[in-house]
Amino acid sequence: MMKREHWGSRLGFILAAAGSAVGLGNIWKFPYMAGENGGGAFLLIYLALVFTIGLSVMLAEMVLGRMAEKNAIGAFAKLKGGAWPLIGFCGVAAAFIILSFYSVVAGWTISYMVKSVTGALAIEDPDQLGSLFGGFISDPVSPLIYHAIFMVLTVFVVLSGVGAGIERASKILMPALFALLLVLIVRSVTLPGAEAGITFLLSPDFSKVTWTTVSDALSQAFFSLSLGMGAMITYGSYLSKKENIASSAGWVTLLDTMVAVMSGLLILPAVFAFGFDPSAGPGLTFITLPAVFAQMPFGSFFAFLFFLLLAIAALTSAVSILEVVVAYFVDDRGISRKSASITVGVIIFLMGIPSSLSLGIMGDFTIFGMGFFDLMDFVSSKLLLPIGGLFISLFVGWVVWGKAKEDIALHNGIVPFWINAWGIIVKFIAPVAIAFILLKGLGVL
Ligand code: TRP
Repeated sequence: MMKREHWGSRLGFILAAAGSAVGLGNIWKFPYMAGENGGGAFLLIYLALVFTIGLSVMLAEMVLGRMAEKNAIGAFAKLKGGAWPLIGFCGVAAAFIILSFYSVVAGWTISYMVKSVTGALAIEDPDQLGSLFGGFISDPVSPLIYHAIFMVLTVFVVLSGVGAGIERASKILMPALFALLLVLIVRSVTLPGAEAGITFLLSPDFSKVTWTTVSDALSQAFFSLSLGMGAMITYGSYLSKKENIASSAGWVTLLDTMVAVMSGLLILPAVFAFGFDPSAGPGLTFITLPAVFAQMPFGSFFAFLFFLLLAIAALTSAVSILEVVVAYFVDDRGISRKSASITVGVIIFLMGIPSSLSLGIMGDFTIFGMGFFDLMDFVSSKLLLPIGGLFISLFVGWVVWGKAKEDIALHNGIVPFWINAWGIIVKFIAPVAIAFILLKGLGVL
């Protein structure tokens, strides 16, 4: 058997995993979710969930991958078998679903990069920008072209391999992303009137908090940290035994959370400074922000940088989603990386078509009262990811706990002092809390 490929360096792995985590979830979704759910209150709940359940499941996934040196399905098959690989199958299914609509939104960001260059976005009136956005996403053709372009880029990175594709792209794109983020934050917080946005994000309004807020914060945490689907199992499977895996998990969690908070600091101050509504929902980044940019000096330039930032963040995330599927076909089905990447890429592109059309000509077609796009989002982030996280915790806590403890200590032979705290979380707290929040959020309890 061929030796499994390893990441070229510790930094390479951290950047690739952070690249997976940092994505549209942080920059597009987090600020509007905070905006809709009481600002600081949402932030506090989110942080509490990220650094307990999120960090623990992150470590659990990475350890599973490294122990098995296998993809999300193969890892469970190798370590235990039985019905356990079903968790991996759900993860692979979730990968198809998530990437299909994720790539549609990522395509919008590329189109908005183009629009900012051509001057099409230099409009100050948010109503007009609203119609522009509505007109664009409901168009039957144009968003599909950008969806295709984005999928081609994603496939290209994945078929180039783990080191030469994923790691190399992350090492170039992630520093670029941090630089862009810093430039844009400085621009945003120095606008006159920006303090109101900062105060909003940092001061909690608990009157807006319900069980739905908590369950939204949990699904957001899973989505943002790329958990519950086997992405971190897959990336962990390329880790060498010499790596301090717990510290890497900590770094990835921290970087992801920093970027979410920083995106809040980029978007909310600008929105407040120009007197817009922070709870504008998904349109916040595509409607409100262009209006903000249009009112600043060199606005088109900053708009371009912003949509470039979104596109880069989306690309490194999409790559990790596709890699979950490709790693399975390469490891367990003997298909070459190249054929697997291209074939799966085409299928996911096709699956994205109804998502995109559901925002336009297919708008009247609903399932359980949801359009296709919303349904895909709901099934994956509200159901598959939390359920995946629940069973991954149980598996690590109860089925392979002894081996997992050893694996964590491999790099220096010392079992860390917090190991039992982690044990309690993966054995009891995470499964119970996830199940409870899930059922509460669905209105079952
Ligand atoms: N975390 C990414 C974001 O915030 C999306 C993502 C990448 C993801 N890989 C994933 C979500 C795996 C769930 C599972 O945009």
